[in-house]
Amino acid sequence: MSPWMTNAAFALFFVLAATGLFFFVVTRGALLMRGLSAGAGGDKSHVYPIYSNMRLIKLVDFQPIISAILLFQYKRLVSHIVAGLGRSDLEGKKVLITSCAFGNVIPRVVDAAVRGGAERVLIADIIPNELAHARSKLGSFAGKVDYIEDNATEMKHAEGAAAANVIFFLLHELPHDLKGQALREAGRMLAPGGKLYLAEFHRPELWVLRALSWTYFKVFEPLGLALWDTHDPLDCLRDMGGWECERTTCFFGNFQIITATKR
Ligand SMILES: C[S@@+](CC[C@H](N)C(=O)[O-])C[C@H]1O[C@@H](n2cnc3c(N)ncnc32)[C@H](O)[C@@H]1O
Repeated sequence: MSPWMTNAAFALFFVLAATGLFFFVVTRGALLMRGLSAGAGGDKSHVYPIYSNMRLIKLVDFQPIISAILLFQYKRLVSHIVAGLGRSDLEGKKVLITSCAFGNVIPRVVDAAVRGGAERVLIADIIPNELAHARSKLGSFAGKVDYIEDNATEMKHAEGAAAANVIFFLLHELPHDLKGQALREAGRMLAPGGKLYLAEFHRPELWVLRALSWTYFKVFEPLGLALWDTHDPLDCLRDMGGWECERTTCFFGNFQIITATKR
């Protein structure tokens, strides 16, 4: 191997290792450290610093990085949700986004809701900095959006307040006992006939992808693996009753969108 190729391989390895280490430190590593400290409990204890520290939020929220984390399926997943909203009758109704997310999902969902005639879009998140960051992306929708500090597992809203509820990659980050609670709250928030759009990871069909994905979850996000079996959101919704559910998967089954209609 020529010296420049050796150097290039070394540089690539260094960049990948440094990126992996950075993400570990600002996600699971921080939670492990938090778990060791006194007074580690509280309803925000599962939230990574990457979602609470404004500098980190701004550093990481860069569309190409976010798309790469979702194996370049981000646009496809968001488009699926936006298309679903486009087919719904939202005239004069409320659309809820339960928890913020990086990238352009929030502007695209808000745009689809407003175009569909929604009277208001409610964005709820447990972290005020995430709400402030979401607001900074939504200047053109001022007056149409409410930003609400709220816990997805114990929402303040009145029952049946929304015609649609979008939850984008939240469940895999919640402790297991809170996953079902968040789904129950999602149901409580919806009016009869309202739709829940839930984007999440899913158990890949290809064994190579499954092995890579398993390793990713074990290292970075161990709470996510349960979505493959014990806490499969589709099973949870069906066990709960009162829903008509449809699941679409993509990228060899690595991602899923569940569209659940409240009966
Ligand atoms: C949706 S998840 C992760 C999204 C995904 N990794 C991305 O950004 O594309 C991250 C968001 O969920 C919020 N969050 C975590 N737990 C929550 C809870 N119990 N209630 C409401 N929001 C919550 C965090 O504050 C953060 O804004």
